[in-house]
Amino acid sequence: MNASQSAPNLASKDRDAGSPAPTWDLAALRERSLVFAAMSEAEIDELMRSARIVEVPARRAVFHTGECGDSLYVILSGKVKVSLLSADGKEAILSLMGAGEVFGEMSLLDGLPRSATVTSLEDCRLMQIGRQDFVQFLKRHADVALKLLAALSQRLRTTNKLVENLSFHHLPSRLARLLLDLGQRHGKAEPNGVEIGLRLSQEELGNLVGASRESVNKQLRAWVDSGVLEYRQGAIVIRKVDVLFRQALAG
Ligand code: CMP
Repeated sequence: MNASQSAPNLASKDRDAGSPAPTWDLAALRERSLVFAAMSEAEIDELMRSARIVEVPARRAVFHTGECGDSLYVILSGKVKVSLLSADGKEAILSLMGAGEVFGEMSLLDGLPRSATVTSLEDCRLMQIGRQDFVQFLKRHADVALKLLAALSQRLRTTNKLVENLSFHHLPSRLARLLLDLGQRHGKAEPNGVEIGLRLSQEELGNLVGASRESVNKQLRAWVDSGVLEYRQGAIVIRKVDVLFRQALAG
């Protein structure tokens, strides 16, 4: 699969938002999404009527940095990564997003090219809304506009944390902070710890903490050897959250 390729079949796989039997869980979406939580069912229905549903297979770019874009996407199911790519193919991952989260709002709002590349990490179902429809909707629903501003403020806070992490901490601390965050946002509690429900390669973990795959591999192996982490069918399970907390605070 080629993550550097925009999803070419977005249009051919889309269908009317109004068609029956949606396969996403509206209640769960509202629980997880600041924007959706602020909307009544009637408002969500209204938005859905002006949207297209697009399906993106795993590991496809939805769009690339620099492309023109006049629509935003709400993730109905699946997960994506938001990243910057250097000319020589290096990647810096800015964010991982899951169901209920919104991306593509920056170009929609300021009319400038896409500020980052968004790639599906697994099969995704997205709701795509065009500028005209979304702006009209926001004008009619000021409460939703305020929630969107709150979501953007949270995103800025998260980016500040990312910069702090990259600037002020050593790799073990950066990696411990990342794993704790992934556990909190994408984890599933189980008797022996927290399973991180995202299949990220060690290179991608490195791209999230500004380190090479080799350094990440060395640190993860040390934690696996000391029982802090476990790999189960390719997924990381945090067995000793307290040790990671201490490591995160150690700087
Ligand atoms: P847009 O610029 O239209 O396309 C890329 C999208 O990535 C952008 O909108 C945001 O939705 C998202 N994005 C850009 N920068 C960040 C960031 N620092 N953190 C989270 N999401 C981002």
